[in-house]
Amino acid sequence: MFNSPPTDSRADPFARSGTRFNQALDQLMGGVEARFGIKPGGLVERKLGRIMEAVPAAAVEAWVASMNSLGADHPEWQSLVECLTVHETYFYREPELMEMTRRDILPHLENLRSTTRRLKIWSAACSTGEEAYDLAFLTLKFLQSRQKAMLGEQGARLLDGWSMSVSGSDISNQVLRTARDGVYSNIAMGSIRDMPPEWKEMLEAVRPADVRADSSEDFFEVRPWVRSYVSFSRFNLMDSRPPFEGLDLVFCRNVLIYFEDNVKRQVQTMLARSLAPGGVLVLGSAVRLLVPEYFTANFGGGGSWYVRNEQAVPR
Ligand SMILES: C[S@@+](CC[C@H](N)C(=O)[O-])C[C@H]1O[C@@H](n2cnc3c(N)ncnc32)[C@H](O)[C@@H]1O
Repeated sequence: MFNSPPTDSRADPFARSGTRFNQALDQLMGGVEARFGIKPGGLVERKLGRIMEAVPAAAVEAWVASMNSLGADHPEWQSLVECLTVHETYFYREPELMEMTRRDILPHLENLRSTTRRLKIWSAACSTGEEAYDLAFLTLKFLQSRQKAMLGEQGARLLDGWSMSVSGSDISNQVLRTARDGVYSNIAMGSIRDMPPEWKEMLEAVRPADVRADSSEDFFEVRPWVRSYVSFSRFNLMDSRPPFEGLDLVFCRNVLIYFEDNVKRQVQTMLARSLAPGGVLVLGSAVRLLVPEYFTANFGGGGSWYVRNEQAVPR
């Protein structure tokens, strides 16, 4: 990241507490927010301050200036954003929301798509993939309960012309690698922490080759009959053009909490563009809808879900 060798920060009185260092850090944080929407906050800034405390202020300023001249896709920004983003996620997060999706949202979509019989779902900011696999599993089980899918050891077969796909996306290449592998361990507070017994049907035990023989961790892989409906790609929520259009269901949870309201509005407008009329947006419990002109709000036991109306989003 830096070319100059670290020096003792005492040699540079500005390095730790001086305005030059803090201004450079502010400019860097401004660059992060402009490119990725995230407002990292004081804790991250203090951490970065500690990491850089031995680097002279002039070197920090030069580095920040060079970073701010680069676009969001540059590898330097990519490696910085990997460190600044929070990737916490797990299967069956917010059980009431999962239940509401099964009870209210999927029947709404089944009705909406009774003619075209296809369901296109997007897990935006999916981190390591658990949410995307949850949505695929939940939808397959729902279709099975409506005699529109047959599930078994041999795989899942959709019936009567129904089709379904789930796309997961994230800004971080690291988490996308894990998502594509689809292998999760049972470490405490890990991906499987809150999984109900019936959800385990989508996993099978595996022993990855790179795991130490004496490791007490157990590993589980998402079964092919679920994986085959899920794909992953990189996407920055700050892009105004969505990667998909005509979608039926979009989950975008636990990410906009890190964004300021004006950026939240911008991202929610992009999400409105991605949905077909009648399609559903789920933002999770902590984020308010800031573009009510494009949606009708519904309230269920698991929080709010928003149905896209016909109002066109200006280009
Ligand atoms: C806390 S995880 C949420 C995962 C999942 N949606 C959930 O609710 O469990 C937030 C994810 O947002 C991603 N993220 C942050 N800023 C982003 C951006 N500008 N574009 C796309 N993804 C972003 C992070 O990389 C991280 O994986």
